[in-house]
Amino acid sequence: MTTPNITRATLRKALHTLHQPSIRTLTTRTTTYTLNTGAKIPALGFGTFQDPDSQEHSVSQALKKGMRLIDTARVYNVEQQVGLGIKRSGIPREDIFLGTKLWCNNYHPDDVERAVDDSLRDLDTSYVDLLLMHYPCTFKRGEERFPRDSEGRMIHGETTYVDTWKAMERVSKTGKVRAIGVSNFSKGEIETLIRESSTVPAVHQMEVHPYLQQKGFNEWLRAQGIHVVQFSPLGNMNDFYRQTGWSKEIAHMMRVIDQPILKDIGQKYGKSPVQVVLAWGINSGRSVIPKSVIDWQIEENLAADFELQPEDMAQIATLDAKARFNDPSLDYEWRLYSDLEGIDGTVRGRTH
Ligand SMILES: NC(=O)c1ccc[n+]([C@@H]2O[C@H](COP(=O)([O-])OP(=O)(O)OC[C@H]3O[C@@H](n4cnc5c(N)ncnc54)[C@H](OP(=O)(O)O)[C@@H]3O)[C@@H](O)[C@H]2O)c1
Repeated sequence: MTTPNITRATLRKALHTLHQPSIRTLTTRTTTYTLNTGAKIPALGFGTFQDPDSQEHSVSQALKKGMRLIDTARVYNVEQQVGLGIKRSGIPREDIFLGTKLWCNNYHPDDVERAVDDSLRDLDTSYVDLLLMHYPCTFKRGEERFPRDSEGRMIHGETTYVDTWKAMERVSKTGKVRAIGVSNFSKGEIETLIRESSTVPAVHQMEVHPYLQQKGFNEWLRAQGIHVVQFSPLGNMNDFYRQTGWSKEIAHMMRVIDQPILKDIGQKYGKSPVQVVLAWGINSGRSVIPKSVIDWQIEENLAADFELQPEDMAQIATLDAKARFNDPSLDYEWRLYSDLEGIDGTVRGRTH
């Protein structure tokens, strides 16, 4: 582990111990859900965005401690580290649900299978359990992940997300990809996919946490048989949202996990606010993929699958602020989430 992580870990541990409930008696579960493909996906998973130098160790630790869902993406530049972490853990590949994401410069139908092959090579595996289209916007094809014109504006590709989806459908028939899904789509964009192709996405990976609950959209997705995986399940915990060019004012609001309601609920169960937030997602029928490179936090997150009483779920429902932190619409030159909640105050800025 690198020095910055030791500092971060030590600081967090001290604060954490200070707020620790005195009892930890509740038995935790290992919930899984069934996708529309028939495959099982764990409720609790592990995110791998950022901290590339720590990911081999963290992925290996997470698997050894019991995580069985690993989420990564081509654009995170960590697929090699994830592959090494899987090997180092000693956990058989078939016991792991591994998902990656196609990046927007590889959306041309003729590029999709080659891009999947690149991911498989780096992950050192012959298949992924899930391939997601990372965003609905298509960038110019080529090596450049963020192709920009002379004024710094993103250059879009000529094909659409429907063309990409049909190419993903074809790759899923090769055995290299066991299920396909989307991420960061609007309701209208998913409706278009369903209307214009023969595969309903198995998963929609999207931002959901107590500050952005998206109740109506979640119900609609469930009715379509699309399983939701919550990214940034801890809300504005990730510093990225305060530091990026496109971070909104709301990223600076009180951290979700500091909400007194969550602490009070946690006391009842002998659980921390982080565990309550993750359990809220699982008790809502979704998967959660918190990211952490700190061993004790990984353990804490793993103990977050427990039953919350309806009155506590109702309390957490009151925290909905329709606060969306991940919104690169103006940078990507694509109005993301156009028919969804939390798009007010989108700011121009760039991250790459
Ligand atoms: N599809 C998409 O567009 C998209 C977008 C964003 C994220 N994702 C995926 O979702 C994953 C999670 O999202 P995220 O990383 O944005 O946010 P997150 O998991 O909600 O929050 C991560 C932050 O919380 C901290 N943390 C984790 N567990 C903790 C604990 N028990 N106590 C205190 N702090 C804790 C982490 O600390 P340390 O890092 O210091 O350990 C990190 O700073 C990503 O890694 C990625 O796989 C997907």
